[in-house]
Amino acid sequence: MSADVFQRAAELREQLHYHIYRYNVLSDPVISDAEYDALYNELRELEAAHPELITPDSPTQRAGSDLSEDFPKVRHPAPILSLSNGYSLDDIRAWEERNLRLLASGTTLDYTLEPKLDGLTVVLTYEKGVLVQGATRGSGEIGDVVTPNIRTIRNIPLRIPAHRDGPPAPALLVVRGEVMYLKKDFERVNQRQIEQGLPVYVNARNTASGSLKQKDSRITASRPLTGFFYGIVESVGITLDKQWDILEYLRDMGFQIGPDSAYYPTLSDIIQQIPTWESHRNQLDFEIDGVVIKVNDLRVARELGIVGKDPRGAIAYKFPAQESTTRLLEAVVSVGRTGRIIPNARLEPVFIGGVTVSNATLHNYDIVQALDIRVGDVVTVRRMGDVIPNVAGPIINLRDGSEIPIKPPTHCPFCGTAIVRPEGAVDYFCPNVYCPERVYRQVEFFVSRAALDIEGMGGQTVKTLIDKGLIRDEADIFSLTAEQLLELDGFAEKKVNNLLASIDAAKSRPLARVITALGVDGVGSTVAVALANHFGSLEALANAAVEELQETTNVGAILAQGIYTWFRDPYHLGVLEKLKNAGLTMQAEAREKVSSALEGLTFVLTGTLPTLSRDQAAEMIQENGGKVTSTVSKKTSYVLMGDSPGSKAEKAAKLGVPIISEDDLKHLLGLA
Ligand code: IVH
Repeated sequence: MSADVFQRAAELREQLHYHIYRYNVLSDPVISDAEYDALYNELRELEAAHPELITPDSPTQRAGSDLSEDFPKVRHPAPILSLSNGYSLDDIRAWEERNLRLLASGTTLDYTLEPKLDGLTVVLTYEKGVLVQGATRGSGEIGDVVTPNIRTIRNIPLRIPAHRDGPPAPALLVVRGEVMYLKKDFERVNQRQIEQGLPVYVNARNTASGSLKQKDSRITASRPLTGFFYGIVESVGITLDKQWDILEYLRDMGFQIGPDSAYYPTLSDIIQQIPTWESHRNQLDFEIDGVVIKVNDLRVARELGIVGKDPRGAIAYKFPAQESTTRLLEAVVSVGRTGRIIPNARLEPVFIGGVTVSNATLHNYDIVQALDIRVGDVVTVRRMGDVIPNVAGPIINLRDGSEIPIKPPTHCPFCGTAIVRPEGAVDYFCPNVYCPERVYRQVEFFVSRAALDIEGMGGQTVKTLIDKGLIRDEADIFSLTAEQLLELDGFAEKKVNNLLASIDAAKSRPLARVITALGVDGVGSTVAVALANHFGSLEALANAAVEELQETTNVGAILAQGIYTWFRDPYHLGVLEKLKNAGLTMQAEAREKVSSALEGLTFVLTGTLPTLSRDQAAEMIQENGGKVTSTVSKKTSYVLMGDSPGSKAEKAAKLGVPIISEDDLKHLLGLA
């Protein structure tokens, strides 16, 4: 073993001790969980290769503790164990192989698959059906007693069974679960902070921890926490020897279990499910950082034993981290097609979840101020699914005093016009409709696939046309001539002819596309189809009163007012007039209503459909005379459900509304 390895292990131990202290004692971590995991795993691997490196105080030799001085203590009836982690499907396969080698030959294993909820562990004790104690995990052996705080969590039963149909209450039941914020509740908490001019919370898990460890339970009561349960630590009067039976038992008792927890007979079934969990994690109502795979037979799981603090009978498959920390180098301003001004961060490049991130949105200036994000800060950056990465917040403890606060600009950086903030708006705007950046963004959108789909007109071409003064707005595209285009760099005859042909083709796009292309704030393709169907012509739409607009499917009061105002703006009317003169579709054609097959039927969409996007499905329904609404009621004819549906599917089941698939919809339309 080289001195380097020895040195590195010592370094890792020291860093980990520091981060454990920041996380558990100060509740104020300075690195992301993923960065912590990387350090921890590096140390564990070094120790596995050189066991002589293991020191008694190595962080790998004990579970972290989050005990605080504020609460009475309790010894848990059994150690509150942790989980080992796997990061690849190979790790999961190797885990099963290792287990099978430890068991009698011929043993087969079945499993449960549960979400790995990113909350904090709680241990609840029910005596004769009454909640008598709630404790945190603490050191794993000893926990903080936070019973009054636990009692404020509305989905935790104070008495079990929580309803009459449940199994009888056992003499003693000690359950284990996670307490956390649902995403929407965390947003609400932050909304309230903003309204009160208080700092915004960055990390849901730490905030949940802080909320649970309040000395005054009235504060906890004002925080909308949720508890999910997955294990029995101890019981008297019941025997359950399968993990799946435990989950069903907990559910029947009235506990909320990890949504979509399921039983699978083999590991291959589990492995098939993992990509779906991973790709849908951002659509869930709650944060997960992976899934947990558990040997279903608890007798076998016990036989497998424990390594350190991790039972061999379960493993966490951790998803790639979606956040990391890096330095904010510069704040830059972008101006959208409606003039909205958005602050963006240029970052020191950082690798997150498989891609290098060097730009991220800073949301808006209210949030920048509430989070106190400054240029030069080390910031937490998150990447959630396909959405643009965002700066979640600064790590204030790493400041050296040289950081510079970020202020909204007073003038548009592209055209120099003084910027405005309309009453009640969260954003600032460049009010200049001729602002080259606004025009660029609007034209780029106008020609995009979602709108008029003009092929051969990429962002660079649009920029050149604006720079050369050939177009001042999107309508000018239709007056471009071959001579003008031939003068541009890289435009030979063939390219020019193709571009002119696609510009010409765009004139006969359906009315709904034209409405989308106008770029009215809040009018996407679904609303545009509804408006085209409702009004039948651009003229009728332009002249519609607010009340009439509001009668359209998916158009609420605020959007109706926005559309009304848009069509009263002289600049927009000028563009419309030019578009009309250019010969663009101004009337709905018969083909926009493909059939009346769905006349009188109302649909609600939920989940991810196998081939259609939600907008396409909505368009298809509306083209065939059906209506699409967003809430399930008794009046709903069908709920069209895809993968990972939300609560709408449950509501439909409750109300007896039939649930159909994309295939069923196509059958209804005679397409399949
Ligand atoms: S089982 C002996 N199941 O993840 C079994 N844990 O990284 C140990 N967690 O300490 C725990 N969701 O706090 C289990 N469905 C789930 C879980 C889960 C989240 C937490 C738990 C554990 C940590 C390990």
